[in-house]
Amino acid sequence: MCGIIGIVGTAPVQDRLIESLKRLEYRGYDSAGIAGIVGGKVERRRAEGKIRALEDVLAAAPLPATVGIGHTRWATHGAPSVRNAHPHTQGRVTLVHNGIIENYAELRERLQAAGRTFESDTDTEVIAALLDSELAMGRDPVAALKATLDQLSGAYALGVLIEGEDGLVMGARRGSPLVVGHGDGEMFIGSDALAVGPFTNRVSYLDEGDFVAIGRDGAKIFDQSGRPVERAVRTVPASAALVEKGNYRHFMEKEIHDQPEGCQRTIAAYVDTLAGRTAIPGGIDFAGLDRIQIVACGTSHIAGLLGKYLIEQLADLPVDVEIASEFRYRQPALSPKALVIAMSQSGETADTLAALRYCMGKGMKSAAVVNAVESTMAREVDVVWPIHCGPEIGVASTKAFTAQVSVLTALAVAAAAARGRIDAAEEQRMVRVLLEAPRLVAESIELEDAVRGIAQEMSKARDVLYLGRGPMYPLALEGALKLKEISYIHAEGYAAGELKHGPIALVDEQTPIVILAPFDSYFEKSASNMSEVMARGGQVIFVTDPEGQKHAPSGARVVVTAPRCDPLIAPLVYSPPIQLLAYHVAVQKGADVDQPRNLAKSVTVE
Ligand code: AGP
Repeated sequence: MCGIIGIVGTAPVQDRLIESLKRLEYRGYDSAGIAGIVGGKVERRRAEGKIRALEDVLAAAPLPATVGIGHTRWATHGAPSVRNAHPHTQGRVTLVHNGIIENYAELRERLQAAGRTFESDTDTEVIAALLDSELAMGRDPVAALKATLDQLSGAYALGVLIEGEDGLVMGARRGSPLVVGHGDGEMFIGSDALAVGPFTNRVSYLDEGDFVAIGRDGAKIFDQSGRPVERAVRTVPASAALVEKGNYRHFMEKEIHDQPEGCQRTIAAYVDTLAGRTAIPGGIDFAGLDRIQIVACGTSHIAGLLGKYLIEQLADLPVDVEIASEFRYRQPALSPKALVIAMSQSGETADTLAALRYCMGKGMKSAAVVNAVESTMAREVDVVWPIHCGPEIGVASTKAFTAQVSVLTALAVAAAAARGRIDAAEEQRMVRVLLEAPRLVAESIELEDAVRGIAQEMSKARDVLYLGRGPMYPLALEGALKLKEISYIHAEGYAAGELKHGPIALVDEQTPIVILAPFDSYFEKSASNMSEVMARGGQVIFVTDPEGQKHAPSGARVVVTAPRCDPLIAPLVYSPPIQLLAYHVAVQKGADVDQPRNLAKSVTVE
């Protein structure tokens, strides 16, 4: 999704705008631009492609401004091009935008009928034209912005410059996040705390519908009705260290290796290690629930599927897991005695947020398992269940996934205890197992050399199948998603039992098949699936544990031996091999691992 930065300062802003945009690269983009007020006039510099292209433009034509805005664009309306790159100018107004304005076509027609012309295909330029029209009617900037926002339907985060107002940057948010950064004699707006992180760690989070005018002496914040409001100034930990690659080549590589720590910090927040019991914040009464509804997208949805297996198995509590974009439009039958859990690393995914709000509208109690604890979802739900893995920059989710699964595993144990399905002794045993997970995840990461060897050959594949049974089925889905989203190889995850109902037709000597099979109650059936596949020439990569290695049918192309572990934490322990496989295949293919084509880290538009 697009990234926004705005600075009102006394020092030159060009290099700081660029520095901030580089921190926003993880959000995914295809063009970038900045604008500033130079001698009372607004000047723009824009470029298609990566920020390096914009830096080349600035080398030829610097922007000597002390007030400016910047933007990385992930194209929605209008192809990636300089013409469509932000910032966009209409009259005195130059602005940047993240989101989608749903009524922009009718607004554009109305403005064209009034004589306006447009240089771009974007919905953003329509906002600039509206605001310029409101200013032309004599309204002051704040009143003009309010009048403009009242005409928009859809999602926006905005950064605005106005010619002649060279100590002012304005911002607004509805459906896309925006924060205010508090400096000394200078002020900032940004898409998130990371954007303003290089300049300040004192941040105010705007609420839905808020808009703001920042000047060198501070910020004036207004709610959607135009009433002045105060938003708390928080000190955030988005320190530079948390978003550097260290000595890794890619953020994704670093984040895979950060998982033992991420799981450890997360699990520690959900267990009382002294008592050896779970300790789930928020006071949810699992015994009083008749159902849990999980809504999520992508990898977070897959984490939710794992939650279903764990919670239903341990707590005998029905769990529905739905793809958020489908869920909200099919008028689902919901129980007011159910708990809705939104799973979201960013806490800003539009589809998940909409599905969550749909459930809350039906009177359901709500919770969110999120990494961004100041995100929109976190601020709207009854209970926040944070994951504690630090900012995840790589577009492909890894450490957030295992942290999410860590939370869901703790929830499953707590729910089982609350519903009398396990006694105190069994709960203490399970907590001990959970506390072993970080060490076993670290051991699993040590399989990297073996996996790297497989990646060489797999990088030539056209199709790859991932198979698993029980909790390994969602993991098969995750392995396939990881591979396809960063290496661009077509991959499908399937329930291994489904093989003979169709996918086996895909199997030939060119098709690598990854079978995930710890030596558990499903192993025998997975082993026979392996034989079925090999009988048809399929090249099997068998991921199992030492016991499974002993009992596996011979003939696998390669066997990856994960550490032996309790079934309760197998999803955590079997995640690193599939993540590392996808990572090394993508590296072999020279793909843009941290910012895969067409993808964004947080999809804040529907
Ligand atoms: C995961 O590797 C993908 N980048 C994507 O599927 C992601 O999980 C999905 O967009 C949901 O994002 P969220 O967790 O921030 O809601």
